[in-house]
Amino acid sequence: MNAKAAPQHSEPQWNIDSWREFPVQQQPQYNDAATLTQAEAKLKGLPPITSPEEARALKAELAMAAEGKAFLLQGGDCAESFAEFNEQNLRNFLRVMLQMTMALMYGAGRPVVKVGRVAGQFAKPRSGNTETLGGTELPSYRGDMVNGMEFDAASRVADPERLLQAYYQSGVTLNFLRSLAKGGYAALDHISKWNMDFVVESPQGRHFNEIVQRINDCLNFIRATGMDTGQMAQLREATFYTSHEGLLLGYESALTRFDEVSEEYYACSAHMLWIGDRTRQTDGAHVEFLRGVANPIGCKVGNSMTVDDLLRLCDILNPKNEAGRLTLISRMGADKVGAQLPPLVRAVKEHGKSVVWSCDPMHGNTIKSPTGYKTRKFTDILSEVRNFFAVHHAEGTHASGVHFEMTGQDVTECLGGAQAISELQLSDRYHTHCDPRLNASQSLELAFLLAEALRLRK
Ligand code: PEP
Ligand code: CO
Repeated sequence: MNAKAAPQHSEPQWNIDSWREFPVQQQPQYNDAATLTQAEAKLKGLPPITSPEEARALKAELAMAAEGKAFLLQGGDCAESFAEFNEQNLRNFLRVMLQMTMALMYGAGRPVVKVGRVAGQFAKPRSGNTETLGGTELPSYRGDMVNGMEFDAASRVADPERLLQAYYQSGVTLNFLRSLAKGGYAALDHISKWNMDFVVESPQGRHFNEIVQRINDCLNFIRATGMDTGQMAQLREATFYTSHEGLLLGYESALTRFDEVSEEYYACSAHMLWIGDRTRQTDGAHVEFLRGVANPIGCKVGNSMTVDDLLRLCDILNPKNEAGRLTLISRMGADKVGAQLPPLVRAVKEHGKSVVWSCDPMHGNTIKSPTGYKTRKFTDILSEVRNFFAVHHAEGTHASGVHFEMTGQDVTECLGGAQAISELQLSDRYHTHCDPRLNASQSLELAFLLAEALRLRK
């Protein structure tokens, strides 16, 4: 915090460091300022991970979602980790995203914009600066990009070298996902090969295979007309984008580049960044930083959001009211969304603000199981999205997206679903570095149920 007169976001002189003049929440305490400066200086000279051109392509896709002509599927780990970084996890993740896409596209009859919480989702906001266990107090774990998860003093030291490791891992991750998305792995006529043992045996695996069968029939029909489906880019390739919470502003500003073509600045650590529910203060550093980059951006909308603050955020973050620029991600809880969301949706509509409304049904539905695990019930997650759809239907606005914490692995972190994961089973494969994720089977099941809900509302 600083003692100077509070600066205003409306001041025109945004620059990649202007956020430093604003109160900033949720930043790690580094012991050694010089090593932090060195790491940030190094990042400034390294190649950007994403390009302005790609960020603009995502913005154009999101502009369609704002008009209800496309549907946003955003998902991935709560927190990526260095330990779980491997080929198989990335393949499984992309596969379940593409399977969900298939289900949603089939049900909603709209293109699906695919955005991963991946290739940069390493930093976490925490409710406390420290954590106490068995009488020992240590700094909180803030994500692998900051410190280590293990509960010992050495691991919890914030280490600037981790910024570089996260940067390199993000670059390799995006490179691999892009090669899969563009290299035939995502081709429609390959999808029948995407069987995962534990999904294939389940009702949603069978449901998925029925869709595959219908798509194959369509492809055969197209081929019978003489067209070569192997040559059609729309059928051979998928477009996949990356996103993460823009939390560590030193890292984000170091990876921000000036684009000569548009004469705008772009955060090049990902295609899209979002502002978390804990850092969305209208007079704070995160809002200041993100207002000045031209990427599509998101903002979480939790229960404490007021109509005034939301309208003010729309003005600051999207002053030109550009379609596709701003995605509002509501995360209220299954039992609260029905009452809390309508006034916000109504105000945004009445003021003519162009936004993509998306639903994060994870963060308002976190509970502690009697066995001590942080978990979420599949039924609460489903119910929050259904209630979110119902609000938009009643208000005459578009429910244009979903935001999930999910993985392609067969973990046991969320309760229920067709596999009926019980409280006792949570300990079997509870691997998350932060919040509980839907596993592959639960993710696909949810996509089918939502596809059905969207189909009925069409
Ligand atoms: C998250 O998306 O992991 C997160 C911390 O969400 P929120 O800011 O909505 O609490
Ligand atoms: Co989370």
